[in-house]
Amino acid sequence: MRRVVMQISDIHLGPHFNTERGELIIREAQEIQPDLVVIAGDLVMRADFKEQWLQAREYIQRLPDPKLIVMGNHDVPQYNQVARYFWPTARYRKYITPVLNPVWHCEDIVVVGLNTARSFTLQGGKLSLQQIEWMARTLSSFSAQYCKIVVMHHHVLQPPGDREKHAIVNADKAVAAMDRAGAELVLCGHIHTSFIGNTLEVSASLQSGTIIAQSGTATSTRGRRWMRGKNSFNIIEIEDQVIRISQRMFLREAERFVPVSEHVFPRRSAGAYYLPRQERVLETSKEIPTQRLPEQTLSR
Ligand SMILES: [Fe+2]
Ligand SMILES: [Fe+2]
Repeated sequence: MRRVVMQISDIHLGPHFNTERGELIIREAQEIQPDLVVIAGDLVMRADFKEQWLQAREYIQRLPDPKLIVMGNHDVPQYNQVARYFWPTARYRKYITPVLNPVWHCEDIVVVGLNTARSFTLQGGKLSLQQIEWMARTLSSFSAQYCKIVVMHHHVLQPPGDREKHAIVNADKAVAAMDRAGAELVLCGHIHTSFIGNTLEVSASLQSGTIIAQSGTATSTRGRRWMRGKNSFNIIEIEDQVIRISQRMFLREAERFVPVSEHVFPRRSAGAYYLPRQERVLETSKEIPTQRLPEQTLSR
């Protein structure tokens, strides 16, 4: 089997939305024809403004179905304190979807989305113990033949060198529960920096670990750290033996999004306990701190 998931996040409709990049993302999605488009939160810049929600809804409708969407911290009102504390999810539910913790599945993959956005913090996120228990129970209700994927806006692991963006409250419990429930992959956004990792790299007590795929901002001008001013998204190919994650970055020289690295992980179903991931970085990428292997180009 081969399934393709397109992971975008942090589209941030509003003053920092790059219209040209937005059109390119839609064109990429139409060309790639993924089995699922995941939008990992931060759909608007300021949730207080109705106009941004209308723009976000119209933009998202133009992306191919099926789609799985979760909220980000920017999707909670910031200026209107009454709305922030009493109806933090109201506009998201009105304009985007009434479902805050969506589940999507086909015959061989299941994807569970979780809302990590909260009123009490402008930046950070949280998973409640009930959400973690529900996520584990939902994933466990599908057989081991399924590739099990979790989506949330905030991250479970602070990428190396990033001291500003802290992982969600209850990250350690979420990581342990994903491991027990057989989650092979967790897709996040929020940090406006693309990052590929594995929960095994930070916890010695896990069985198989969960691959982490962070997407940078797809269309906002507010990329961070080494992705300052840059836009990116991830293409995830799920096959019987491997999961292949390709980071696609907008390069001005090419005037389009191009693959800049590929990360290949063994599937749990391939019987692997843990193998070091293989990474390939293209000539075009000078900034990804990864060893480049010679004589290799990406096929996609
Ligand atoms: Fe964001
Ligand atoms: Fe965010």
